Amino acid sequence: MSIHSVLVTGSSRGIGFGLVQKFLESDKVGLVIAASRPSATSELLTIKNKKLHLVTLDVTDDDSIVKAVEQVDQIVGSKGLTILVNNAGILQSYGFTDEPNRDVVNQTLDTNITSPMMMAQYFYPLLKRAADSQPGNTFSSSRAAIVNISSILGSIQLAQSSDNGIKKLLDYSVSKAGVNMVSRILSKDLEAYGIACTALHPGWVQTRMGGEHASITLEECVSKLAPSIMSLTQEQNGGFFDRELKAIPF
Ligand SMILES: NC(=O)c1ccc[n+]([C@@H]2O[C@H](COP(=O)([O-])OP(=O)(O)OC[C@H]3O[C@@H](n4cnc5c(N)ncnc54)[C@H](OP(=O)(O)O)[C@@H]3O)[C@@H](O)[C@H]2O)c1
Repeated sequence: MSIHSVLVTGSSRGIGFGLVQKFLESDKVGLVIAASRPSATSELLTIKNKKLHLVTLDVTDDDSIVKAVEQVDQIVGSKGLTILVNNAGILQSYGFTDEPNRDVVNQTLDTNITSPMMMAQYFYPLLKRAADSQPGNTFSSSRAAIVNISSILGSIQLAQSSDNGIKKLLDYSVSKAGVNMVSRILSKDLEAYGIACTALHPGWVQTRMGGEHASITLEECVSKLAPSIMSLTQEQNGGFFDRELKAIPF
């Protein structure tokens, strides 16, 4: 077993749920922790698999994160948490021509930037435990890694108008540029501890967020994204990539 444990936030549906399924299918992964807000309708509740552990987590609520850390500590034990996937996110379709609304923008920034930052800080001791259990100078997803699910819309070089005719993307694009910076800086902060940090764009995916006209299915996304998450090396540390680990400009 090369990856002791993986935690995915926002796993109740969409890409998070698809990733959980792929990690459960993989012989490489020992423990899969599906973290989500409570949902009576989530398909997570129908999965029967000894590798799967369900943890309640609202990523915008510090008390909820602290409780989740305590629970995950018990689940992962002395080998720590190998991979933290910060996947939970929101898109509220806010554009420049909308009525100004600070609350909407702040909610997007809180969920998509501040929360992955807080998650990394709170879960750091468990990630460090994983890295310490494999001493050396290597960076890899089998040692310890944080993966932030970002978006190509967060690329400053590739930035477009905030209204693409389908969705309005001002706050969302800014939030993904922000989480890219979180990833880049954490890769430097965590370098000394052997914990890698990478931002990944999953593609335009048919989920509640992506909508039915998105270019790829959930299966097309996670069949590439999950293996990529499981095979990160020094080469991807601090970078921004698509689901097949092709580099995207910041
Ligand atoms: N779909 C795309 O085309 C696309 C493209 C690029 C990037 N992404 C990124 O991929 C990630 C997943 O997107 P998706 O398409 O799977 O979206 P989705 O279908 O809307 O699912 C979003 C997930 O995030 C969870 N979530 C939202 N706020 C949360 C909070 N405060 N605490 C915990 N969980 C929370 C939701 O949980 P509830 O069920 O509790 O609401 C849900 O499980 C996001 O970061 C998104 O920005 C998606």
